[in-house]
Amino acid sequence: MPIALEVFDGAVAGSPDYIALGAEMAGTLAGWICWGPTPCTRGTFDLYWMAVDPALHGAGIGTALLAAMEQRLRGIARLIVVETAGRNDYAPTRAFYEARGYRATARVPDFYAPGDDLVVYTKALPAG
Ligand SMILES: CC(C)(COP(=O)(O)OP(=O)(O)OC[C@H]1O[C@@H](n2cnc3c(N)ncnc32)[C@H](O)[C@@H]1OP(=O)(O)O)[C@@H](O)C(=O)NCCC(=O)NCCS
Repeated sequence: MPIALEVFDGAVAGSPDYIALGAEMAGTLAGWICWGPTPCTRGTFDLYWMAVDPALHGAGIGTALLAAMEQRLRGIARLIVVETAGRNDYAPTRAFYEARGYRATARVPDFYAPGDDLVVYTKALPAG
């Protein structure tokens, strides 16, 4: 499937604190990813959000977006952090990150709501 990855021209564009990429298919935005340097850290970056058009889930777009972010962070980032939910309906999202080298390194019980935990995933990138 041909997809184009381009810097996302949105509200976050132009700020060094928020970098975003969009995946475009046939002239339509199919997914996007947004990341940035974590304040008060050296070499840690937050993956703030990523999402793919539900009609296109499972087609490799999320993998391409994640790989494109990691490629751009190589030599810049030491650690990537992503926060997601521990709820059952987020199990596919957690599996997505786990299969791509992200480890659940912290959990905050009842963070989003009673019974709705925060799970923090991290991935170390090689130096240089
Ligand atoms: C998580 C998400 C970004 C993955 O994008 P994607 O384009 O569907 O992912 P890919 O096609 O590249 O990869 C498919 C993998 O994701 C997993 N996956 C997660 N959610 C999925 C879904 N709804 N449908 C199909 N596969 C899904 C599959 O298990 C598959 O794993 P595998 O390749 O290791 O077997 C996407 O499903 C999504 O937008 N989910 C809703 C929003 C969300 O949870 N965002 C992250 C918030 S932190």
